[in-house]
Amino acid sequence: MLGFGVDIGGSGIKGCLVDLVEGDLHGERLRIDTPQPSLPESVHDVVAQIVGHFGWEGRVGVTFPGVMKNGVAHTAANVDKSWIGTHLAEGLASRIPGTVQTLNDADAAGLAEMRFGAGRDRRGVVLMLTFGTGIGSALFTDGVLVPNTEFGHIEVDGEDGERRASAAAREREDLSYPQWAKRVDRYLDVLEACVWPDLIIVGGGVSKKAHKWVPLLSTRTPVVPAELRGDAGIVGAALAAEERIGQ
Ligand code: BGC
Repeated sequence: MLGFGVDIGGSGIKGCLVDLVEGDLHGERLRIDTPQPSLPESVHDVVAQIVGHFGWEGRVGVTFPGVMKNGVAHTAANVDKSWIGTHLAEGLASRIPGTVQTLNDADAAGLAEMRFGAGRDRRGVVLMLTFGTGIGSALFTDGVLVPNTEFGHIEVDGEDGERRASAAAREREDLSYPQWAKRVDRYLDVLEACVWPDLIIVGGGVSKKAHKWVPLLSTRTPVVPAELRGDAGIVGAALAAEERIGQ
């Protein structure tokens, strides 16, 4: 069975047909740079272009890098602030044929990991964290998502958590993996004081290099790398659309 997912990020917008049985991409994905400034209308056009490229007319799952409630964006840490208060599915309705389901990007990645990846068959409390431009979070209890947790914004030593410990911070400040691992460790230390998960799954591009930093962490919770890597958002979006998860 096929579905379709689009993952909106601060630097790229990616979409693909998704095999919902295997939990992977069906064919090649299409990635287009996020327009700058990342205004809603310009991003809607790119999403429509991606869906049109595949000729897909069914339900579409679309992720957004901010809090999504009832289809409305409530925050926009890493995209244009004019998104706040806009309705993503309504914005796309006149541009693409299928019904649109929207959800937070990390929540989508987490859904995919729980179903097909590192969180498969895991009960208890599982926390997925995505390290990219920001830090995204998705919290699951016995496999059920608690949406919009936004743990990237917990305060760590007087600063926004993701500002110090995202993958973008590593690149921006040219940190080695051991240096950056210390930042992530401190971030997780603060997070673990509030949440007691049974497993932490770390995703985003840096999960490919997990061997360079995950063994350096001193968390009490076991940490494992995500398995779907960069495609988790697309797969999770398609899954959410098919199963009507999110709003
Ligand atoms: C946003 C989250 C998002 C994460 C990853 C954070 O800055 O607040 O909503 O999931 O970045 O894109």
